[in-house]
Amino acid sequence: MRQAEELRDAVDAYLRSLMFASELGQLEKALRYSLESGGKRIRPVLCLAVVEAAGGDVEHALPAASALELVHTFSLVHDDLPALDDDPERRGRPSSHVVFGEGAALLAGDAFLAEAVRLGLRYDDPRIARELVEATLGMIGGQYRDITGDDDLTELHRLKTGRLFVASVGLGLRVAGVAERDQARWRAFGSEFGLLFQIVDDILDGDGLAGRLPSEDVMRLADSSAARARKQLEGLDANTSVLRALVDAVTFRTA
Ligand code: IPE
Ligand code: IPE
Ligand code: MG
Ligand code: MG
Ligand code: MG
Repeated sequence: MRQAEELRDAVDAYLRSLMFASELGQLEKALRYSLESGGKRIRPVLCLAVVEAAGGDVEHALPAASALELVHTFSLVHDDLPALDDDPERRGRPSSHVVFGEGAALLAGDAFLAEAVRLGLRYDDPRIARELVEATLGMIGGQYRDITGDDDLTELHRLKTGRLFVASVGLGLRVAGVAERDQARWRAFGSEFGLLFQIVDDILDGDGLAGRLPSEDVMRLADSSAARARKQLEGLDANTSVLRALVDAVTFRTA
C-alpha cells in the first residue's frame, strides 16, 4: 500500500506532465505558477488513498485526483483577489494577481476550472465529471456565504471546504467502482475530514471559527471532528491506515 508521500509524488508528476489548452498561450505561465508552488495536495492524495483502500487502480484515478487539485487551485487564485480576501501572498510567495495582474489571475482561475472539467470528462462514467462540478458549485456557494458574512459557519465550512473533500472521497469511490449503496460511510468520513481541515485552517489563520469562539472551544470542535472522522474509518471494512495517517497529519498540523 502506497503511503501519502508516494501518492503525492504521483499527483505532482501527473500535474507537471499535464498539457493545458494551447489556446491559453502565455496565460499558461500563470497556471504553472499557482499549480507548482508547494501546495499540500491533500484533496488528490485523499482521493488516491480512498482508491487504494477500496481496491481500485491509482493510475486510473490520477486524472480525477488532479481535477480536484485544479478546482482547488482555481478557488485559491480567486480567493486571493482584491475582490475577495485581497491576499497579496499565497504559500509564502506573491499571489497570482500580484505577479500577473488581476485580469490574468481571474482568467487563470477560469482556465483551471475548465481544464478540471476536461479531466473529469475523460472517464466513461459521467457521474465523475458531474460530482466534480456539483462540488465546485457547493464550494462557490460557500465562498459567497463567506464574503457576505453568513453567520452559519458550520454550513459555510461544509460548503466552501467540505464539498471538495467529499468529492475527493466520492471520485475515488467511483473510480474504484464502489457501489452507491456502499458509499455512505466513506462519504461521511470525507465530510468530517473536510470540516476538521477547515477548523484547523481557521485555528492556524486565527480567523473564521477561531475569530468567533474562545480557543479552547475551537480546539474542542477540532478534537470532536477528528474523533468522528476516525470513527467512520473504523466502521469501514478496508485497510484505512493511510487515511488514518492523513487525519493524524491534519489534526497535528502546525503550518
Ligand atoms: C487552503 O487549502 C484553503 C482551505 C480550504 C482551507 P489548503 O491548505 O489545502 O491549501 P494548499 O493547497 O495546501 O496550499
Ligand atoms: C478559502 O478559505 C477556501 C476556499 C474554498 C478557497 P480561506 O480564505 O480560509 O483560505 P486561505 O486561508 O486563504 O487559504
Ligand atoms: Mg477566503
Ligand atoms: Mg483566503
Ligand atoms: Mg483560512
